[in-house]
Amino acid sequence: MTGPLSKNPVFCALDTTSVTQAVTLAQSLIGKVGGLKVGMEFFYANGPTGYQAVAETGIPIFLDLKLHDIPNTVAGGIRAITPLKPAILTIHTAGGIDMMKAAKQASMEAAGPSPLVVGVTVLTSLDESDLKMAGVGDTAADQVRRLAGNAQEAGLDGVVCSPLEVDLLRADCGPDFKLIVPGIRPSGAAIGDQKRVMGPAEALAKGADVLVIGRPITQANHPANAADAIQAEIAASTS
Ligand code: C5P
Repeated sequence: MTGPLSKNPVFCALDTTSVTQAVTLAQSLIGKVGGLKVGMEFFYANGPTGYQAVAETGIPIFLDLKLHDIPNTVAGGIRAITPLKPAILTIHTAGGIDMMKAAKQASMEAAGPSPLVVGVTVLTSLDESDLKMAGVGDTAADQVRRLAGNAQEAGLDGVVCSPLEVDLLRADCGPDFKLIVPGIRPSGAAIGDQKRVMGPAEALAKGADVLVIGRPITQANHPANAADAIQAEIAASTS
């Protein structure tokens, strides 16, 4: 793994609007996870100040704002957030090649290391009938592959994808394209509302670079222990 990402592939999703809760959890996860995912829920509620309170833990942050607008506006949005020094940020690949190029270009203007810019392809909440209603006749898998190809052509660093797409995209996009993968469930964890899940070791073996894991850590009685157990599960599979 290169750039701002550490050897620990687990990014814990802080799905809360509470700064106190997020900071307490983040502090308990120092040295236990490779990063934290901060989404629009937290960022819209607390802005850069809330973000910085979490970032002060020193844990790399995946700022998942899924930007989607015309190229000039997305580039401006990225220039506004790069001073926060996220390790990873997201944009929608549906914004088109020019928008993705403008986003990547803007991310590289920041002083210091640039964030990885990764694309969201087909939201996993959409099925084929939703795609049809939006005028997409292809299967979801074909549309994911097409959008990931566009992202790669535009120079993005990778895409967010479901565990079931890792195989296909790793083969399509080669070894350096980052695959950021939610929908991960360590052994014994509740599946919750996720429909297509995979264990952390299996997702890594298939070629995932970052595992986004929320509730199995955040809702555990001891989040730090849950994060340690995930590392142990990964280590056991490779030893
Ligand atoms: O709690 P859980 O592990 O299911 O959380 C996964 C995180 O990844 C949440 O923040 C969720 O919004 C996000 N995510 C996802 N599936 C996607 C895209 C993002 O679960 N396709």
